Amino acid sequence: RDDALSAPNAELFPDWCQRQAKRSEAALERCLPDETVLPAELHRAMAYAVLGGGKRIRPLLAYAAAELSEAPASVADCAACAVELIHAYSLVHDDMPCMDNDVLRRGKPTVHVAFGEANAMLVGDALQALAFEVVAKAHECGARPEAVVRMTQELAQAAGSLGMAGGQAIDLAAVGKAMSREQLQAMHERKTGAMLRAAVVMGALGGRVLSATEQQALVRFSQSIGLAFQVVDDILDVQADSATLGKTAGKDALNDKPTYVSVLGMSEAEAFARDLCCEAHEALATFANTAHRLHELADLIVLRKS
Ligand code: IPE
Ligand code: IPE
Ligand code: MG
Ligand code: MG
Ligand code: MG
Repeated sequence: RDDALSAPNAELFPDWCQRQAKRSEAALERCLPDETVLPAELHRAMAYAVLGGGKRIRPLLAYAAAELSEAPASVADCAACAVELIHAYSLVHDDMPCMDNDVLRRGKPTVHVAFGEANAMLVGDALQALAFEVVAKAHECGARPEAVVRMTQELAQAAGSLGMAGGQAIDLAAVGKAMSREQLQAMHERKTGAMLRAAVVMGALGGRVLSATEQQALVRFSQSIGLAFQVVDDILDVQADSATLGKTAGKDALNDKPTYVSVLGMSEAEAFARDLCCEAHEALATFANTAHRLHELADLIVLRKS
């Protein structure tokens, strides 16, 4: 899909989001290895996993936070791409038969369907390594050395066993089991929230050093939208159809996964997403009116249709 935002969310996405999503697509294209260089099959599979789809919510968050710290454009691109590369890898592995076993992603056959399981595994490995190469490049683009170190730490923690990968492990171990609300929240914060937080924090690290109050506000904001994002993902899995989602609808019930809908019920899950959205807006109070992109993104995360 040439314009990923043309589909169900187009009306919700302000012009700024449309432009930044296109910008991230171009920046991601520049990060990826030449598809004609060996091993060409792996490089084609990496491009297939990363380009031409996805809402690019994490790059949008990184760009919005980068604006707040007045980061140079090329540094913001590094933060945005690094987070999206880890995210794209996580989707490739999430869809594999040993995990959620899905055949549709971003409106296309999943990577393991199109390229085979071994390639899907290697695409994930290579995209993860590439993400850290891209963070390191922020230094050449003018980021402070201390900022590059902190970006690296933030991304490693968000992707690792206390972040996304750990959340995925909890998710797989929970199949067919009951979960308390607290356990569910701990899982969602890791598997999804951590990477959204990394997007915001890494974007904000790109420019001037923010005050402690500003940094805390951004962390509070990203915790709220990070959790809200997966609550809404659980809701849409039940409410939307596969064509709209670009992935198989109803997959959580099919795979017997505990979700916010199965644990709280639909209307309480929806109310919780709205509450988290309000918390996210409140967290930004310290920025007065300079954080309007982040305010827009909080609404988008909760109102999105796919
Ligand atoms: C889906 O993420 C997986 C989760 C972490 C919930 P997105 O809904 O951001 O997927 P894309 O990037 O738009 O395809
Ligand atoms: C996946 O959560 C979170 C990741 C870290 C990829 P889901 O399994 O609910 O994501 P979808 O619904 O397949 O996109
Ligand atoms: Mg999953
Ligand atoms: Mg899945
Ligand atoms: Mg889901």
